[in-house]
Amino acid sequence: MRVLVVGGGGREHTLVWKIAQSPKVEKIYAAPGNAGISQAAECIPIQPTQIDELADFAEEKRVELTVVGPEGPLVVGIIDTFQTRGLKIFGPSKQAARLEGSKVFAKELMRDYGIPTAQFEVFTSPDKAIGYIKAKGAPIVVKADGLAAGKGAVVAMTEEEAIEAVEKMLVKKAFGEAGEKVVIEEYLQGEEASVLALSDGETIVPLVPSQDHKRAFDGDQGPNTGGMGAYAPAPVITEELMQKINSKILQPTVEAMANKDIIYKGVLYAGLIMTAQGPQVLEFNCRFGDPESQAQLPLMKTDLVDVLLAICDQRLKDVSIEEENKAAVCVVMASEGYPGAYEKGKEITGLKQAEQMEGIVVFHAGTKLEKGKIVTNGGRVLGVTAVAESISAAVNRAYQAVERIRFQGAHYRGDIGFRALARER
Ligand code: AMP
Ligand code: GLY
Repeated sequence: MRVLVVGGGGREHTLVWKIAQSPKVEKIYAAPGNAGISQAAECIPIQPTQIDELADFAEEKRVELTVVGPEGPLVVGIIDTFQTRGLKIFGPSKQAARLEGSKVFAKELMRDYGIPTAQFEVFTSPDKAIGYIKAKGAPIVVKADGLAAGKGAVVAMTEEEAIEAVEKMLVKKAFGEAGEKVVIEEYLQGEEASVLALSDGETIVPLVPSQDHKRAFDGDQGPNTGGMGAYAPAPVITEELMQKINSKILQPTVEAMANKDIIYKGVLYAGLIMTAQGPQVLEFNCRFGDPESQAQLPLMKTDLVDVLLAICDQRLKDVSIEEENKAAVCVVMASEGYPGAYEKGKEITGLKQAEQMEGIVVFHAGTKLEKGKIVTNGGRVLGVTAVAESISAAVNRAYQAVERIRFQGAHYRGDIGFRALARER
Protein backbone atom coordinates (compact mmCIF):
# COMPACT_ATOMS: atom_id res chain seq x y z
CA MET A 1 0.00 0.00 0.00
CA ARG A 2 1.15 3.55 -0.75
CA VAL A 3 0.78 6.09 2.06
CA LEU A 4 1.23 9.87 2.05
CA VAL A 5 2.01 11.68 5.31
CA VAL A 6 1.33 15.42 5.28
CA GLY A 7 3.71 17.54 7.37
CA GLY A 8 7.38 17.74 8.19
CA GLY A 9 7.90 17.90 11.95
CA GLY A 10 8.60 15.54 14.81
CA ARG A 11 5.04 14.28 14.90
CA GLU A 12 5.16 13.43 11.22
CA HIS A 13 8.50 11.64 11.57
CA THR A 14 6.89 9.55 14.31
CA LEU A 15 3.92 8.78 12.07
CA VAL A 16 6.20 7.79 9.19
CA TRP A 17 8.33 5.64 11.52
CA LYS A 18 5.26 3.84 12.85
CA ILE A 19 3.58 3.48 9.46
CA ALA A 20 6.81 2.05 8.00
CA GLN A 21 6.52 -0.84 10.49
CA SER A 22 3.30 -2.02 8.87
CA PRO A 23 3.80 -5.04 6.63
CA LYS A 24 1.04 -3.63 4.41
CA VAL A 25 3.04 -0.58 3.45
CA GLU A 26 5.32 -0.69 0.44
CA LYS A 27 5.94 3.04 -0.12
CA ILE A 28 5.63 6.20 1.98
CA TYR A 29 5.64 9.74 0.68
CA ALA A 30 5.93 12.77 2.95
CA ALA A 31 5.05 16.35 2.10
CA PRO A 32 7.34 18.12 2.74
CA GLY A 33 9.10 15.80 5.25
CA ASN A 34 12.55 16.47 6.73
CA ALA A 35 16.00 14.85 6.87
CA GLY A 36 14.91 12.13 9.31
CA ILE A 37 11.72 11.37 7.42
CA SER A 38 13.69 11.01 4.19
CA GLN A 39 15.30 7.86 5.63
CA ALA A 40 11.95 6.06 5.48
CA ALA A 41 9.89 8.04 2.98
CA GLU A 42 10.23 9.91 -0.27
CA CYS A 43 9.97 13.61 0.53
CA ILE A 44 8.11 15.79 -1.93
CA PRO A 45 8.28 19.58 -1.99
CA ILE A 46 4.59 20.32 -1.42
CA GLN A 47 3.52 22.29 1.65
CA PRO A 48 0.74 20.98 3.92
CA THR A 49 -1.62 23.82 2.97
CA GLN A 50 -1.27 23.22 -0.79
CA ILE A 51 -4.30 20.98 -0.68
CA ASP A 52 -5.10 20.73 -4.38
CA GLU A 53 -1.48 19.94 -5.20
CA LEU A 54 -1.48 17.23 -2.51
CA ALA A 55 -4.66 15.71 -3.90
CA ASP A 56 -3.22 15.81 -7.44
CA PHE A 57 -0.11 14.06 -6.16
CA ALA A 58 -2.12 11.41 -4.29
CA GLU A 59 -4.15 10.73 -7.40
CA GLU A 60 -1.16 10.57 -9.70
CA LYS A 61 0.81 8.22 -7.42
CA ARG A 62 -2.30 6.18 -6.55
CA VAL A 63 -1.82 6.81 -2.84
CA GLU A 64 -4.20 4.59 -0.89
CA LEU A 65 -4.10 6.39 2.45
CA THR A 66 -3.18 9.95 3.35
CA VAL A 67 -2.46 10.86 6.97
CA VAL A 68 -2.46 14.51 8.01
CA GLY A 69 -0.17 15.65 10.83
CA PRO A 70 -0.77 19.37 11.43
CA GLU A 71 -3.99 21.23 12.15
CA GLY A 72 -3.62 23.89 9.44
CA PRO A 73 -4.76 21.77 6.48
CA LEU A 74 -7.47 20.04 8.56
CA VAL A 75 -9.05 23.33 9.57
CA VAL A 76 -9.20 24.53 5.97
CA GLY A 77 -10.73 21.28 4.75
CA ILE A 78 -8.10 18.92 3.32
CA ILE A 79 -10.24 15.94 4.33
CA ASP A 80 -13.27 17.22 2.45
CA THR A 81 -11.24 17.93 -0.72
CA PHE A 82 -9.66 14.47 -0.72
CA GLN A 83 -12.95 12.72 -0.02
CA THR A 84 -14.74 14.62 -2.77
CA ARG A 85 -12.06 13.34 -5.13
CA GLY A 86 -12.50 9.76 -3.88
CA LEU A 87 -9.17 9.68 -2.02
CA LYS A 88 -8.90 7.93 1.36
CA ILE A 89 -7.61 10.22 4.07
CA PHE A 90 -7.34 10.10 7.87
CA GLY A 91 -8.52 13.05 9.93
CA PRO A 92 -11.55 15.16 10.85
CA SER A 93 -13.57 17.06 8.26
CA LYS A 94 -13.48 20.84 8.09
CA GLN A 95 -16.61 21.05 10.24
CA ALA A 96 -15.21 18.58 12.79
CA ALA A 97 -11.85 20.37 12.92
CA ARG A 98 -13.61 23.48 14.19
CA LEU A 99 -13.11 21.94 17.64
CA GLU A 100 -9.53 23.16 17.28
CA GLY A 101 -10.00 25.83 14.63
CA SER A 102 -12.44 27.92 16.63
CA LYS A 103 -12.13 28.28 20.40
CA VAL A 104 -15.55 29.98 20.37
CA PHE A 105 -17.10 26.94 18.68
CA ALA A 106 -15.39 24.53 21.12
CA LYS A 107 -16.27 26.55 24.22
CA GLU A 108 -19.91 26.98 23.20
CA LEU A 109 -20.21 23.28 22.42
CA MET A 110 -18.82 22.43 25.85
CA ARG A 111 -21.14 24.90 27.55
CA ASP A 112 -24.18 23.62 25.64
CA TYR A 113 -23.42 19.99 26.44
CA GLY A 114 -22.16 20.32 30.01
CA ILE A 115 -18.59 19.28 29.23
CA PRO A 116 -16.37 20.62 32.04
CA THR A 117 -14.38 23.69 31.03
CA ALA A 118 -13.51 27.12 32.44
CA GLN A 119 -16.35 29.69 32.57
CA PHE A 120 -16.05 32.15 29.72
CA GLU A 121 -17.50 34.93 27.60
CA VAL A 122 -16.90 35.76 23.93
CA PHE A 123 -16.07 39.30 22.80
CA THR A 124 -15.60 41.22 19.57
CA SER A 125 -15.70 44.65 21.20
CA PRO A 126 -12.49 45.70 22.98
CA ASP A 127 -14.41 47.98 25.37
CA LYS A 128 -16.73 45.21 26.47
CA ALA A 129 -13.83 42.79 26.83
CA ILE A 130 -11.90 45.26 28.96
CA GLY A 131 -15.00 45.96 31.07
CA TYR A 132 -15.33 42.22 31.68
CA ILE A 133 -11.66 41.88 32.66
CA LYS A 134 -12.05 44.75 35.14
CA ALA A 135 -15.18 43.20 36.60
CA LYS A 136 -13.62 39.73 36.94
CA GLY A 137 -10.08 40.72 37.93
CA ALA A 138 -6.85 38.77 37.40
CA PRO A 139 -5.59 36.13 36.96
CA ILE A 140 -7.65 35.64 33.83
CA VAL A 141 -7.07 34.03 30.44
CA VAL A 142 -7.50 35.66 27.00
CA LYS A 143 -7.61 33.47 23.88
CA ALA A 144 -7.86 34.30 20.20
CA ASP A 145 -10.70 32.41 18.51
CA GLY A 146 -8.74 30.95 15.60
CA LEU A 147 -5.41 29.26 14.97
CA ALA A 148 -2.48 31.34 16.17
CA ALA A 149 0.47 28.92 16.04
CA GLY A 150 0.37 28.32 19.79
CA LYS A 151 0.58 32.03 20.61
CA GLY A 152 -3.13 32.71 20.90
CA ALA A 153 -3.60 31.99 24.62
CA VAL A 154 -2.48 34.55 27.18
CA VAL A 155 -2.58 33.56 30.82
CA ALA A 156 -2.63 37.03 32.38
CA MET A 157 -1.56 37.34 35.99
CA THR A 158 -2.55 41.03 36.06
CA GLU A 159 -5.47 43.01 34.59
CA GLU A 160 -2.97 45.08 32.59
CA GLU A 161 -1.58 41.98 30.86
CA ALA A 162 -5.10 40.82 30.02
CA ILE A 163 -6.04 44.23 28.62
CA GLU A 164 -2.84 44.29 26.60
CA ALA A 165 -3.74 40.88 25.13
CA VAL A 166 -7.21 42.11 24.20
CA GLU A 167 -5.74 45.18 22.51
CA LYS A 168 -3.23 43.06 20.64
CA MET A 169 -5.97 40.77 19.33
CA LEU A 170 -9.01 43.00 18.86
CA VAL A 171 -7.43 46.39 18.14
CA LYS A 172 -4.02 45.74 16.58
CA LYS A 173 -5.32 42.55 14.92
CA ALA A 174 -2.01 40.80 15.58
CA PHE A 175 -3.55 37.44 14.59
CA GLY A 176 -5.67 38.80 11.72
CA GLU A 177 -8.99 37.03 11.33
CA ALA A 178 -8.05 34.45 13.98
CA GLY A 179 -8.22 37.21 16.59
CA GLU A 180 -11.43 38.94 15.50
CA LYS A 181 -13.18 37.25 18.40
CA VAL A 182 -11.67 36.49 21.76
CA VAL A 183 -12.64 34.10 24.52
CA ILE A 184 -11.98 35.40 28.01
CA GLU A 185 -12.04 32.66 30.57
CA GLU A 186 -11.60 31.85 34.18
CA TYR A 187 -8.07 30.94 35.30
CA LEU A 188 -7.86 27.31 36.40
CA GLN A 189 -5.23 25.67 38.55
CA GLY A 190 -3.98 22.12 38.48
CA GLU A 191 -1.69 19.69 36.73
CA GLU A 192 -2.11 19.49 32.97
CA ALA A 193 -2.22 16.36 30.84
CA SER A 194 -2.88 15.46 27.22
CA VAL A 195 -5.50 12.80 26.71
CA LEU A 196 -5.82 11.75 23.10
CA ALA A 197 -8.41 9.41 21.73
CA LEU A 198 -9.02 7.83 18.38
CA SER A 199 -12.57 8.23 17.17
CA ASP A 200 -14.50 7.02 14.15
CA GLY A 201 -17.57 8.95 15.24
CA GLU A 202 -19.01 5.98 17.12
CA THR A 203 -16.21 4.13 18.85
CA ILE A 204 -13.74 6.09 20.94
CA VAL A 205 -10.45 4.57 22.06
CA PRO A 206 -8.22 6.65 24.35
CA LEU A 207 -4.46 6.30 23.89
CA VAL A 208 -2.04 6.07 26.80
CA PRO A 209 -2.26 9.48 28.56
CA SER A 210 0.71 11.79 28.23
CA GLN A 211 2.12 15.04 29.50
CA ASP A 212 3.76 17.83 27.54
CA HIS A 213 6.22 20.44 28.86
CA LYS A 214 5.19 23.70 27.20
CA ARG A 215 7.57 26.18 28.79
CA ALA A 216 11.05 26.73 27.38
CA PHE A 217 13.05 26.26 30.59
CA ASP A 218 13.38 23.86 33.51
CA GLY A 219 10.81 24.08 36.27
CA ASP A 220 8.18 25.30 33.78
CA GLN A 221 9.82 28.71 33.51
CA GLY A 222 10.12 30.97 30.49
CA PRO A 223 7.91 31.45 27.46
CA ASN A 224 5.46 28.92 26.03
CA THR A 225 6.76 26.76 23.18
CA GLY A 226 5.25 24.11 20.95
CA GLY A 227 6.40 21.60 23.57
CA MET A 228 9.89 20.83 24.93
CA GLY A 229 9.28 17.20 25.77
CA ALA A 230 6.65 14.65 26.65
CA TYR A 231 6.22 11.33 28.31
CA ALA A 232 3.65 8.58 28.56
CA PRO A 233 1.93 7.17 30.48
CA ALA A 234 1.26 10.19 32.69
CA PRO A 235 0.58 8.84 36.19
CA VAL A 236 -1.51 11.91 37.06
CA ILE A 237 -4.22 10.26 34.96
CA THR A 238 -5.15 7.29 37.09
CA GLU A 239 -7.39 4.61 35.66
CA GLU A 240 -10.30 6.06 37.60
CA LEU A 241 -9.66 9.54 36.20
CA MET A 242 -9.35 8.11 32.71
CA GLN A 243 -12.78 6.55 33.00
CA LYS A 244 -14.20 9.84 34.14
CA ILE A 245 -12.48 11.70 31.31
CA ASN A 246 -13.85 9.19 28.85
CA SER A 247 -17.42 9.35 30.11
CA LYS A 248 -17.60 13.08 30.91
CA ILE A 249 -15.41 14.57 28.21
CA LEU A 250 -14.42 12.37 25.27
CA GLN A 251 -17.68 10.50 24.67
CA PRO A 252 -19.94 13.52 25.24
CA THR A 253 -17.82 15.62 22.87
CA VAL A 254 -18.10 13.15 20.01
CA GLU A 255 -21.83 12.76 20.77
CA ALA A 256 -22.32 16.52 20.87
CA MET A 257 -20.69 16.77 17.47
CA ALA A 258 -22.93 13.96 16.18
CA ASN A 259 -25.91 15.94 17.43
CA LYS A 260 -24.78 18.70 15.13
CA ASP A 261 -24.55 16.16 12.30
CA ILE A 262 -20.77 16.19 12.43
CA ILE A 263 -19.12 12.77 12.48
CA TYR A 264 -15.88 13.17 14.41
CA LYS A 265 -13.32 10.91 12.72
CA GLY A 266 -9.69 11.21 13.65
CA VAL A 267 -7.73 12.10 16.75
CA LEU A 268 -9.55 13.96 19.48
CA TYR A 269 -6.89 15.58 21.63
CA ALA A 270 -8.14 16.97 24.92
CA GLY A 271 -5.76 19.34 26.68
CA LEU A 272 -6.88 18.90 30.27
CA ILE A 273 -6.22 20.40 33.65
CA MET A 274 -6.90 18.48 36.86
CA THR A 275 -8.61 21.00 39.10
CA ALA A 276 -10.01 20.50 42.59
CA GLN A 277 -13.38 20.13 40.82
CA GLY A 278 -12.04 17.39 38.57
CA PRO A 279 -10.64 17.34 35.03
CA GLN A 280 -11.57 20.30 32.83
CA VAL A 281 -10.87 20.97 29.17
CA LEU A 282 -8.39 23.75 28.38
CA GLU A 283 -8.53 23.12 24.67
CA PHE A 284 -9.29 20.56 22.02
CA ASN A 285 -6.98 19.72 19.17
CA CYS A 286 -8.01 17.70 16.15
CA ARG A 287 -4.73 15.85 15.51
CA PHE A 288 -1.89 14.00 17.18
CA GLY A 289 0.18 16.01 19.64
CA ASP A 290 3.69 17.20 19.00
CA PRO A 291 5.74 16.06 20.98
CA GLU A 292 3.13 13.81 22.66
CA SER A 293 3.01 11.45 19.68
CA GLN A 294 6.78 10.93 19.96
CA ALA A 295 6.05 9.32 23.36
CA GLN A 296 2.68 7.74 22.60
CA LEU A 297 3.17 6.04 19.25
CA PRO A 298 6.30 4.08 20.25
CA LEU A 299 4.15 2.47 22.95
CA MET A 300 1.48 1.31 20.50
CA LYS A 301 1.82 -2.35 19.63
CA THR A 302 -0.97 -2.48 17.08
CA ASP A 303 -0.30 -1.75 13.41
CA LEU A 304 -1.16 1.95 13.09
CA VAL A 305 -2.19 1.56 9.45
CA ASP A 306 -4.87 -0.98 10.45
CA VAL A 307 -6.15 1.47 13.04
CA LEU A 308 -6.21 4.46 10.69
CA LEU A 309 -7.95 2.48 7.94
CA ALA A 310 -10.54 1.22 10.43
CA ILE A 311 -11.30 4.79 11.44
CA CYS A 312 -11.64 5.91 7.82
CA ASP A 313 -14.11 3.07 7.22
CA GLN A 314 -15.91 3.55 10.54
CA ARG A 315 -15.15 0.11 11.92
CA LEU A 316 -12.87 0.99 14.83
CA LYS A 317 -14.95 -1.26 17.07
CA ASP A 318 -13.46 -4.26 15.25
CA VAL A 319 -9.86 -3.33 16.07
CA SER A 320 -8.25 -3.86 19.43
CA ILE A 321 -5.50 -1.37 20.14
CA GLU A 322 -2.76 -2.78 22.30
CA GLU A 323 -0.16 -0.77 24.12
CA GLU A 324 3.23 -1.84 25.49
CA ASN A 325 3.34 -1.99 29.25
CA LYS A 326 6.34 0.37 29.22
CA ALA A 327 7.09 4.06 29.43
CA ALA A 328 8.37 6.50 26.83
CA VAL A 329 10.06 9.85 27.27
CA CYS A 330 10.82 12.36 24.52
CA VAL A 331 13.32 15.17 25.12
CA VAL A 332 13.15 17.93 22.54
CA MET A 333 16.43 19.50 21.44
CA ALA A 334 15.82 23.02 20.17
CA SER A 335 17.77 25.79 18.47
CA GLU A 336 19.32 28.53 20.58
CA GLY A 337 16.77 31.33 20.94
CA TYR A 338 13.65 29.19 20.37
CA PRO A 339 10.74 30.05 20.76
CA GLY A 340 12.09 33.45 19.70
CA ALA A 341 14.36 34.07 16.71
CA TYR A 342 16.99 31.42 16.00
CA GLU A 343 19.58 30.59 13.36
CA LYS A 344 19.39 27.57 11.06
CA GLY A 345 21.96 25.47 9.25
CA LYS A 346 24.00 24.20 12.24
CA GLU A 347 25.51 20.79 11.61
CA ILE A 348 24.15 18.01 13.83
CA THR A 349 26.56 15.28 14.92
CA GLY A 350 26.25 12.18 17.07
CA LEU A 351 22.89 11.03 15.69
CA LYS A 352 24.17 7.55 14.84
CA GLN A 353 25.80 7.14 18.24
CA ALA A 354 22.50 8.03 19.90
CA GLU A 355 20.40 5.83 17.65
CA GLN A 356 22.62 2.83 18.30
CA MET A 357 21.51 2.82 21.92
CA GLU A 358 18.92 0.27 22.89
CA GLY A 359 15.41 1.67 23.17
CA ILE A 360 16.30 5.00 21.52
CA VAL A 361 14.68 6.57 18.50
CA VAL A 362 15.60 10.06 17.37
CA PHE A 363 12.68 11.78 15.69
CA HIS A 364 13.58 14.74 13.51
CA ALA A 365 11.56 17.95 13.67
CA GLY A 366 13.45 20.87 12.11
CA THR A 367 16.27 19.24 10.15
CA LYS A 368 17.37 19.10 6.55
CA LEU A 369 20.05 17.52 4.43
CA GLU A 370 22.63 19.94 3.10
CA LYS A 371 25.58 18.70 1.07
CA GLY A 372 25.30 15.27 2.67
CA LYS A 373 25.15 16.67 6.21
CA ILE A 374 22.17 16.89 8.52
CA VAL A 375 21.69 20.48 9.68
CA THR A 376 19.19 22.33 11.87
CA ASN A 377 16.24 23.83 10.04
CA GLY A 378 13.72 24.85 12.69
CA GLY A 379 13.09 25.86 16.28
CA ARG A 380 12.46 22.39 17.57
CA VAL A 381 15.16 20.27 15.96
CA LEU A 382 14.98 16.72 17.37
CA GLY A 383 12.80 14.65 19.68
CA VAL A 384 15.06 12.13 21.37
CA THR A 385 12.81 9.33 22.56
CA ALA A 386 13.56 6.47 24.92
CA VAL A 387 11.35 3.50 25.69
CA ALA A 388 12.06 1.62 28.92
CA GLU A 389 10.45 -0.25 31.78
CA SER A 390 9.64 2.87 33.80
CA ILE A 391 9.55 6.64 33.38
CA SER A 392 12.73 6.99 35.43
CA ALA A 393 14.60 4.45 33.30
CA ALA A 394 13.32 6.13 30.13
CA VAL A 395 14.36 9.57 31.41
CA ASN A 396 17.89 8.36 32.12
CA ARG A 397 18.19 6.66 28.79
CA ALA A 398 16.82 9.65 26.86
CA TYR A 399 19.32 12.03 28.47
CA GLN A 400 22.22 9.65 27.80
CA ALA A 401 21.24 9.77 24.14
CA VAL A 402 20.82 13.55 24.19
CA GLU A 403 24.38 13.91 25.48
CA ARG A 404 25.70 12.14 22.41
CA ILE A 405 24.07 14.60 20.02
CA ARG A 406 25.63 17.99 19.33
CA PHE A 407 24.85 21.12 17.39
CA GLN A 408 25.86 24.68 18.06
CA GLY A 409 23.52 26.35 20.56
CA ALA A 410 21.50 23.19 21.27
CA HIS A 411 19.02 23.84 24.03
CA TYR A 412 16.93 21.29 25.91
CA ARG A 413 15.19 21.01 29.22
CA GLY A 414 16.89 18.87 31.82
CA ASP A 415 13.75 18.01 33.76
CA ILE A 416 11.41 16.25 31.31
CA GLY A 417 9.18 13.90 33.27
CA PHE A 418 9.76 15.58 36.63
CA ARG A 419 6.13 15.35 37.72
CA ALA A 420 5.99 11.63 36.96
CA LEU A 421 9.32 11.08 38.76
CA ALA A 422 7.94 12.79 41.85
CA ARG A 423 5.06 10.32 41.82
CA GLU A 424 7.29 7.30 41.22
CA ARG A 425 9.19 8.05 44.40
P1 AMP B 1 -4.42 26.51 25.09
O1 AMP B 1 -3.78 26.92 23.80
O2 AMP B 1 -5.82 26.91 25.23
O3 AMP B 1 -4.17 25.08 25.45
O4 AMP B 1 -3.56 27.25 26.20
C1 AMP B 1 -2.15 27.12 26.27
C2 AMP B 1 -1.72 26.97 27.72
O5 AMP B 1 -2.21 28.06 28.49
C3 AMP B 1 -2.29 25.73 28.41
O6 AMP B 1 -1.50 24.59 28.19
C4 AMP B 1 -2.26 26.16 29.85
O7 AMP B 1 -0.97 26.01 30.41
C5 AMP B 1 -2.59 27.62 29.78
N1 AMP B 1 -4.04 27.85 29.97
C6 AMP B 1 -5.00 27.85 29.01
N2 AMP B 1 -6.21 28.09 29.53
C7 AMP B 1 -6.04 28.22 30.85
C8 AMP B 1 -6.93 28.47 31.95
N3 AMP B 1 -8.22 28.63 31.76
N4 AMP B 1 -6.39 28.54 33.18
C9 AMP B 1 -5.06 28.39 33.37
N5 AMP B 1 -4.18 28.16 32.41
C10 AMP B 1 -4.65 28.07 31.13
N1 GLY C 1 2.09 19.61 22.35
C1 GLY C 1 1.01 20.49 22.11
C2 GLY C 1 0.30 20.26 20.86
O1 GLY C 1 0.53 19.33 20.12
O2 GLY C 1 -0.58 21.07 20.59
